[in-house]
Formats: sequence, structure tokens, C-alpha cells
Amino acid sequence: MRKSSWVWAIPCAALIGVLAPAMTAGDIPSQGVPGTTGVSLSPHNLSRAGVQAGNGEVCLPCHTSHNAQAGQPALWNHRVNTGMAYSLYNTTHSTRFRSNYVGLDTASKLCLSCHDGAIAVDSFSGMTSGSHFVTGTKAVGQNGDLGSVHPVGLRYPGSSFDGKTWRPTPGYNDPTSPRFSAEGVGGNKGVQLIDLADGSKGVGCLSCHSSHNNTNGRFLRTDMKYSFLCLKCHDT
Ligand code: HEC
Ligand code: HEC
Ligand code: HEC
Ligand code: HEC
Repeated sequence: MRKSSWVWAIPCAALIGVLAPAMTAGDIPSQGVPGTTGVSLSPHNLSRAGVQAGNGEVCLPCHTSHNAQAGQPALWNHRVNTGMAYSLYNTTHSTRFRSNYVGLDTASKLCLSCHDGAIAVDSFSGMTSGSHFVTGTKAVGQNGDLGSVHPVGLRYPGSSFDGKTWRPTPGYNDPTSPRFSAEGVGGNKGVQLIDLADGSKGVGCLSCHSSHNNTNGRFLRTDMKYSFLCLKCHDT
């Protein structure tokens, strides 16, 4: 028995010696990274932006287990400006699908609760007086202006696409095909179409971005190599 534990102890010690120096990033818990989404390793681990939640919690600036905000999905814990009316791409540009604009989906407003630069990142769990703001190019939709961001808040072209039957539209790919997303319209493998308030499916922040997974950088759902992401929707 003694011998066999020594046989293991030596390689284990060597392995710890190899791994230990790699685990120096201050915000990685020593017992490993919780969950599988990788949010802890991403810029959405807000401790990296200098925003500390008690006990080093990673999820808390965005989600809570109790007292979540009424009217918001995903047990939302961050302050949201529900009265904000964002102006969309069609207000500053004449577009082919001008009449498809129906307004932002709920999840996009959650992104903008930090990214419009108006509400502080550290305004969560009922706090309203945060002081850490998203600035510069990361502040998307400043002053409620989404006029120069890729179109969001609009139906996907092809009549009023409901997620099932798509009417072919030149220049756009079939959102029900596996090429669009291997898991279907709302799936995670590829781009997504988002539920809009009028019951149709369309484009929101989460069409191109995910909230947690930063494997591709910029929280993008698909690699930007060869403009892959763009060519999921655009048939050009
Ligand atoms: C910077 C903000 C942010 C942080 C931090 C964050 N999330 Fe989220 N999460 C979101 C947003 C926005 C949504 C809603 C949109 C969506 O469905 O992705 C969401 C949705 C979810 C959902 C429901 C949808 C799904 O993906 O299954 C779960 C569960 C979830 N988050 C878990 C977590 C956990 C666990 C953590 C911490 C390890 C975490 N989140 C950290 C922003 C965040
Ligand atoms: C609680 C506040 C908060 C919410 C909610 C939030 N973010 Fe962020 N996000 C941040 C902060 C802080 C950064 C880091 C900014 C910086 O580096 O200056 C960031 C960074 C990013 C980046 C840049 C990542 C990189 O590689 O540099 C992207 C893209 C992004 N967020 C998209 C989103 C999207 C999409 C949503 C909604 C699903 C969202 N964020 C929700 C706070 C938030
Ligand atoms: C059609 C796809 C698409 C949509 C929709 C979209 N984005 Fe992006 N976003 C991108 C791409 C691609 C990049 C990376 C651009 C680059 O790195 O040059 C990006 C970059 C970003 C960045 C990082 C900017 C920086 O300077 O690092 C933030 C923050 C961001 N997006 C937030 C949002 C928010 C919030 C929404 C919704 C209002 C949104 N995006 C909608 C494709 C999209
Ligand atoms: C989730 C689907 C989707 C993705 C991904 C996507 N787009 Fe789009 N894009 C659309 C839709 C829908 C429109 C139609 C907007 C309109 O005509 O009003 C559009 C419109 C455009 C337009 C025309 C705007 C105008 O003035 O008529 C350009 C250019 C464009 N996208 C470029 C891109 C680029 C570049 C990327 C990759 C970074 C990209 N798109 C990714 C769905 C998408």
C-alpha cells in the first residue's frame, strides 16, 4: 500500500508543480472555474473591470437567486432603464426592410443596461449609485442611439418569420437550415434569431453575441474569420 501511494504521489506533485504557475490570474478561484460557460474567464467576469461583488461572485452583477427584477427574464439583477426608447438603424438610414423594424427585444435591453454607458456596471442588487461605466467603443447605443449599429430590433426578412416556415428572400439565408445554426433558429451553434414583441423572429444583440461564451472573442457566436458570422444570414 505504502509503495503504491508513493508511486502516485510523485507524478501528482510534479503535475501540480506544472499547473500551479499557470493559475496565476487573480480572479480564477483556486478550486477551479465554476460552470462550463467560461463567463468567469471572460470580460463579463466584472471583477476584471474593477467591479467587485461580495464573496467574489461572478453571476451576481447580472443575475440573482432572490428579488429578481419584475418584468425581466433570466432572474435579472442589474438596473435597467425600462423607459428608454432606442432609435434604430432605420431612423438614420433608408433600408430595404424598413417596415420590418418593430423595436428592441427584451434581452438586447439587458445588454444595453450596461452597454449604453448610461447605467453604471455596479448598479445591481438594488444599488442605483454605481460609478463604473462602460465607455469608448464598448459603449454601444449611447444616448439611446442605435442608428449606427448593425440593424437590431427588426424581423428577419421573408414575410413575418415565425421560426417555422420561411419565405425565401434574395440575399438572405434560410434561418431554418442547419447552415444557419446546427441547433435550429434559437440554438446555440451558429447565429440566432430572437423573439420580438410582435411574435416574429428577428435580429437582436444575441443574434451575433452570446452573454457568457467568449471563445471566439467579443462574445461572438461564430468566428469572424472570412466574415463567417455575416455569411450566416447574408447570402452575398
Ligand atoms: C454581464 C452579465 C452576465 C453575467 C456576469 C452572467 N450572465 Fe447569465 N445571462 C446574461 C444575459 C444578458 C442573459 C439573457 C440572455 C440570454 O439568454 O443569454 C443571461 C442568461 C442566463 C441564463 C438563462 C439562459 C441560458 O443561457 O441558459 C442562465 C441560466 C445564466 N445566464 C446563468 C449565468 C451564470 C450561472 C452566471 C455566472 C457564472 C452568469 N449567467 C453570468 C448576462 C450575464
Ligand atoms: C452588468 C453589465 C454588463 C451587461 C449586462 C453586459 N455587459 Fe458586456 N461588458 C461589460 C463590461 C464591463 C465589459 C468590459 C468593458 C471594457 O473592457 O471596457 C463588457 C464587454 C463586452 C464586450 C467586449 C468583449 C471583449 O472581448 O472585449 C462585448 C462584445 C459585450 N460586452 C457584449 C455584451 C452583450 C451582447 C450583452 C448582452 C447579452 C452584454 N455585453 C451585457 C458589462 C456588461
Ligand atoms: C450582426 C451582428 C451583430 C449584432 C446584431 C450586434 N453586434 Fe456587437 N459586434 C459584432 C461584431 C462582429 C463585433 C466585433 C467587431 C470588431 O471586433 O471589430 C461586435 C463588437 C461589439 C462590442 C465590442 C466593441 C469593441 O470595441 O470591442 C460590443 C460591446 C458589442 N458588440 C455590443 C453589442 C450590443 C450591445 C448589441 C445590441 C445592441 C450588438 N453588439 C449587436 C456583431 C454584432
Ligand atoms: C442574424 C442575422 C444577421 C447577421 C449575422 C448579420 N446580418 Fe447584416 N442584416 C441582417 C438583416 C435582417 C438586415 C436587413 C436590414 C434592413 O434592410 O433594414 C441586415 C442588413 C445589413 C446591411 C444593409 C444595411 C442597409 O443599409 O440596408 C449590411 C451592410 C449588413 N447587414 C452587413 C452585415 C455584416 C458586415 C455582418 C457581419 C458582421 C452582418 N451583416 C451580419 C441580418 C444579419
